[in-house]
Amino acid sequence: MTIRVLSIASEAAPLVKTGGLADVAGALPAAVAAHDVAMTTLLPGYPAVMGAVGTGGGKTRAVHTWPSLLGEPARLLSGTIGDHPLLVLDAPGLFRREGGPYGDATGRDWADNGLRFAAFARAAADIASGAVKSLRFDIAHAHDWQAAMAPAFLRFAPAGIAPPSVMTIHNMAFQGHFPATLFPRLGLPDEAWSINGVEYHGGVGFLKAGLDSAWAITTVSPTYAREIRSSEFGMGLDGLIRARGNQVHGIVNGIDTREWNPASDRALANTYSARTLARRAANRTALESAFGLELGSGPLFVVISRLTWQKGMDVLLSALDHLVGTGARLALLGSGDKALEAGFVAAAGRHPGRIGVRIGYDEALSHQLQGGGDAILVPSRFEPCGLTQLYGLAYGCVPVVSRTGGLADTVVDANPAALAAGAATGVQFNAVTHEALCDAIDRTVALYRNGALWQAIQRAGMKSDFSWGRSGKAYADLYANLLEAR
Ligand code: ADP
Ligand code: GLC
Repeated sequence: MTIRVLSIASEAAPLVKTGGLADVAGALPAAVAAHDVAMTTLLPGYPAVMGAVGTGGGKTRAVHTWPSLLGEPARLLSGTIGDHPLLVLDAPGLFRREGGPYGDATGRDWADNGLRFAAFARAAADIASGAVKSLRFDIAHAHDWQAAMAPAFLRFAPAGIAPPSVMTIHNMAFQGHFPATLFPRLGLPDEAWSINGVEYHGGVGFLKAGLDSAWAITTVSPTYAREIRSSEFGMGLDGLIRARGNQVHGIVNGIDTREWNPASDRALANTYSARTLARRAANRTALESAFGLELGSGPLFVVISRLTWQKGMDVLLSALDHLVGTGARLALLGSGDKALEAGFVAAAGRHPGRIGVRIGYDEALSHQLQGGGDAILVPSRFEPCGLTQLYGLAYGCVPVVSRTGGLADTVVDANPAALAAGAATGVQFNAVTHEALCDAIDRTVALYRNGALWQAIQRAGMKSDFSWGRSGKAYADLYANLLEAR
């Protein structure tokens, strides 16, 4: 029997993306379809999403209206995202505004984010429990804090109408905390105002409420699932995670191989495969010219990242003089903290021709960096899964990563045993410190200078399993188990 799942996400590629959540929410429907799961994605009606559903050639239609969704008029549109069904919550007062999904053009969070995403989750809970006659779902699957109130609304719904819910943590660092004054606007019963409900440190905690209410919790790698049981990674919610015991599952992300395949990637000057690695050379030359880099004999490191503390970008900044000293070069694409942005721009000024920096967000350039760079640096302090190292594996852009979260689970360090077995796919280092990163850069440069060995690492990465195969099955099995337990 086909299992019908409502996937509730605040972003999904290719319609709206600020990070890896969008890649995963965008890829999940196809990943589970292979295992008899029919997934429908619910997105907020931001302008970018409204534009996309509006161009559906008349296929878009309104399937439901709410005269007052937590006080706002709203309607539900039905359309498609890729080959899969899409629902869009069109609540103009909440989502039709210029800027990003969570904040204005200057990056400042919208002041009403609590209400915006509570309304989004309220709509999701209504849909999942059968409020829209033409839509039926067996499971509600919420992603991150923006959707996390959905399991809570379902839990406090009248008995018998709510389906089982799954809460996926893509990043424990973002929890959605709002003042207690939001609570009366949520329409929840008084009993929900409790430490076993939505209350968290005197306010409303969205992720906390979702983790407390969902039937099952998942996060995006087995190692991160273990890490968030500790106070170092649990960000205050580790006690709750420990209390949920074996209802917490680590399921590693895959990549969408239709979007990310070097053999068919239209952003690349030259497409290639593991057998035609030499064709990458033209892509590298294109990058060197795009980033104003000298041609050189050392490796070209690349970075595609939010420029933040989580991503270890301050440590990378401190290692750039060392990197250049080894004869390597760096091309960086990213945006984020203003001080880090300025730091990288200054480093490029200090090392003209050796370091090239592009501040901003550029999807095509991110593909070109993977298709032409020699190694991708991911020195994260924590990383629930990480996708750029997976794209690196698929593209023969060797990942150099810290040993944490999904980075630990997806990259095989080039230690002597792994090299001898032909299993190495990248370089790992332990603590995110200046010394450890410099050491990892040295090891990478040395491996690179042994051409045959380097190609073996590239090929092993390209052959490693970064597909959704096993993880799609793991989600399908989880849904089936919840329905059985019901
Ligand atoms: P996170 O979601 O924590 O930022 P991930 O590695 O899971 O980290 O996903 C980041 C996604 O965003 C990847 O698809 C990556 O290619 C993309 N990305 C990050 N920064 C940029 C940028 N400046 N330009 C284009 N794509 C970017
Ligand atoms: C978050 C995490 C990242 C993960 C992504 C998708 O943004 O920071 O590690 O890959 O979600 O699950």
